[in-house]
Amino acid sequence: MGVEGCKPCVHATQLDSMDDALLKTLRCGEDFHALCTPPPEMSITEQVKRCVIGNAPRLPLNNLDGDMHAACRWDCYRRASMLEPMSRAIFQDGVQGDFLEAGVFKGGISTVMATLLALGDPGGARVAWFADSFDGLPNVQTAVGADVDDVVNRENRRTRWIRGRFNASLATVGRHFERCYRDEHGKPARFGGWGRARALPGFFEDSLPGPVRSLALLRVDGDLYSSITTTLERLWPLLNVGGFVVFDDWKFEQARLAIVQFRKRWGVETPVRFANGTLDAMAWWRKE
Ligand SMILES: C[S@@+](CC[C@H](N)C(=O)[O-])C[C@H]1O[C@@H](n2cnc3c(N)ncnc32)[C@H](O)[C@@H]1O
Repeated sequence: MGVEGCKPCVHATQLDSMDDALLKTLRCGEDFHALCTPPPEMSITEQVKRCVIGNAPRLPLNNLDGDMHAACRWDCYRRASMLEPMSRAIFQDGVQGDFLEAGVFKGGISTVMATLLALGDPGGARVAWFADSFDGLPNVQTAVGADVDDVVNRENRRTRWIRGRFNASLATVGRHFERCYRDEHGKPARFGGWGRARALPGFFEDSLPGPVRSLALLRVDGDLYSSITTTLERLWPLLNVGGFVVFDDWKFEQARLAIVQFRKRWGVETPVRFANGTLDAMAWWRKE
């Protein structure tokens, strides 16, 4: 393909710990890979993606590269790019509903999502929701069941996740948003009004679904088994057919467990796909 940063999806074949039934449902996302079709240089989306990563390289070789002061780190440019073809498909196919990220941290990806929404639905009434405690992770201790608790506690110790990790205040997110967000006219928006964006502050257990009624794009990035499960249980029913659900945390065992158990509970059989080219596995599927 010859495009910088475009390499085939490997994540679907790299996972050896999953059971056979699930492995059969894993696919690369060859249809949805913005990096393989480079956007016109410095389109509005391109400007926003470059703004949220700050001084970091667009296509880093590892997750340690990044700008500590930017709105987004950890291979952010690729993780944001994979949303572009999804957004295009949503608007081309007339899928109704808002965009929502559950797990915002400093707001980089949510800001890109808000711009994609503005570009796809110029002057429309759809909302880009930013759902987060804006106070970091909740209490990481769970008591869901022995099998889950073991996985969660082991992983939380290894990753050193504790209450308050990934803490970024609403004011910080607002500052990043004001600097980087651009609407369909290439214009920034003021914090507070937030253009098309709205904050949904609070722990997911208390805040979701709140005023959200209908979704077309749901990005799940709460890290913890409990956070991912709550997000899915509360918001999956609001995701319209043709909408996309995207998971940032597939590399974590507790996230895979939450996703797999949710799919079993809800009878979701749509294959899990993976974005091409991202450093970590970005799982997604389109609601049927
Ligand atoms: C890894 S960060 C998200 C990173 C961000 N999406 C990005 O790509 O830069 C995880 C976020 O989830 C939030 N979070 C996790 N569990 C939560 C819960 N139960 N309720 C509210 N926020 C939660 C944390 O506050 C944190 O901001």
